Amino acid sequence: MSASGDTSHPDHNGGSRKDETLIVDSPMPPHMEDPGWCAWQVYLEWPGEPGVPEELVDSTAAMGLLTGDALWALSVAVAVFLLLVDLMHRRQRWAARYPPGPLPLPGLGNLLQIDFQNMPSSFQKMRFRFGDVFSLQLAWRPVIVLNGLAAVREALVNHSEYTSDRPWMSIYDHLGLGPRSQGVILASYGPAWREQRRFSVSTMRNFGLGKKSLERWVTEEASCLCTAFANKAGCPFSPMSLLKRAVCNVISSLIYARRFKYDDQRLAKMLDLLEDMLKEDSGFVPMVLNVVPVLLRIPGLPGWVFRAQKAFMAMVDELLEEHRMTWDPAQPPRDLTDAFLAEVEKAKGNPESSFNDENLRIVVLDLFTAGMVTTSTMLAWALLLMILHPDVQRRVQQEIDEVIGQVRQPEMGDQARMPFTMAVIHEVQRFGDLVPLAVPHLTTRDIELQGFLIPKVGLGPSSQALSDQ
Ligand code: HEM
Repeated sequence: MSASGDTSHPDHNGGSRKDETLIVDSPMPPHMEDPGWCAWQVYLEWPGEPGVPEELVDSTAAMGLLTGDALWALSVAVAVFLLLVDLMHRRQRWAARYPPGPLPLPGLGNLLQIDFQNMPSSFQKMRFRFGDVFSLQLAWRPVIVLNGLAAVREALVNHSEYTSDRPWMSIYDHLGLGPRSQGVILASYGPAWREQRRFSVSTMRNFGLGKKSLERWVTEEASCLCTAFANKAGCPFSPMSLLKRAVCNVISSLIYARRFKYDDQRLAKMLDLLEDMLKEDSGFVPMVLNVVPVLLRIPGLPGWVFRAQKAFMAMVDELLEEHRMTWDPAQPPRDLTDAFLAEVEKAKGNPESSFNDENLRIVVLDLFTAGMVTTSTMLAWALLLMILHPDVQRRVQQEIDEVIGQVRQPEMGDQARMPFTMAVIHEVQRFGDLVPLAVPHLTTRDIELQGFLIPKVGLGPSSQALSDQ
């Protein structure tokens, strides 16, 4: 392939640069037949070589300046510049009491030292080497990893005011995350987060104003799940797919006031996409895109790397649109979407408010992604642990029989009279350790932690807080 046909390339100012001949992957002139050159490397053709039109010789002569010594000097200058930039980014490491960590490579930092397929295990190894608080550098982004209950508690409880922010994750920009639509999970620690957090928590807690309370949605779904289990008629089966369907239905009831039949194609598609979204979120590529966000400007790249996220968002939009068409503001809210739409109406004309149509999409996405896989996997852990510990299972069943009996549905109020069952649920959650790296936090000012000085940088994932005591 040759790009040498047209010697006039429009430059960035709209002008014309007639002085370059760019040749890509064409046969090399003899003096460049160096096996060290890649076949596809871009190079400048040497003036006066056979095959170069006469009129180009003069214009390309100037480019001769960029070969030989000049090219060498330019490469050295670029390398020195990059090293200086790298040095600037790592100077924090030399500050007094900065947490220790593996030596970062220029430009890449510690990206190659982390196993992105199993980050908790990678961090565990580093914890053995460097202690409970250690530092990493992801490309040029500094990260502090906290391990163990003491360090995590000190950071997130004692210093909560300065550790509750979130780093901006550019990989979600393509979904519509922006200054006025930050959702809840990744929202900066400020008024928008407070408003949405309060709204989500109170809507979940107080639902009952409308047709059904969240508690009723949960108990009705639990009945459907028990029936589906019973229909297996004693045959062995994996409960995972039914658990996911049931949990997805509870979240869908909360958001859209509707549940799907377990064999509904739309539900199956949602579950598949949620699963794929998790895979898209983890690994080397998303991490690199997050720390070098300029790469996300490559046309089509975000849509290609995050296909499932895009497709899931399209489903959220479709369901929201269907829902909006049946919304009647005069009626009590049926669900979280109705309550949100009412807030959007109230907030019209208030540019400070986080209640707007874009943010509704992100809040809905947050609740599905935060609640679905976590809760269904936790339920699967609970079933497995009950099978492995039949004595515990017997005591839980005994308490259920005594407090609830076999006739009526369970209620939230029953929890207070079921201390053993509650302890088992908490132990399952601790043991399952479902989100071992949690969600990254950001420090908004320098803090002292376990004797180290954590600058206003990024407080990265916290790990192994549930299994060391
Ligand atoms: C067993 C199930 C669950 C587990 C293990 C779990 C775990 C977590 C973790 C580790 C965080 C990050 C906390 C932090 O460091 O800031 C989080 C945040 C969050 N979770 Fe869950 N979660 C579960 C269920 C749910 C459910 C059912 C929902 C809602 C439908 C939900 C909604 C959220 C939201 C909105 C946030 C962000 C809170 C904030 O930043 O203020 N989660 N969850």
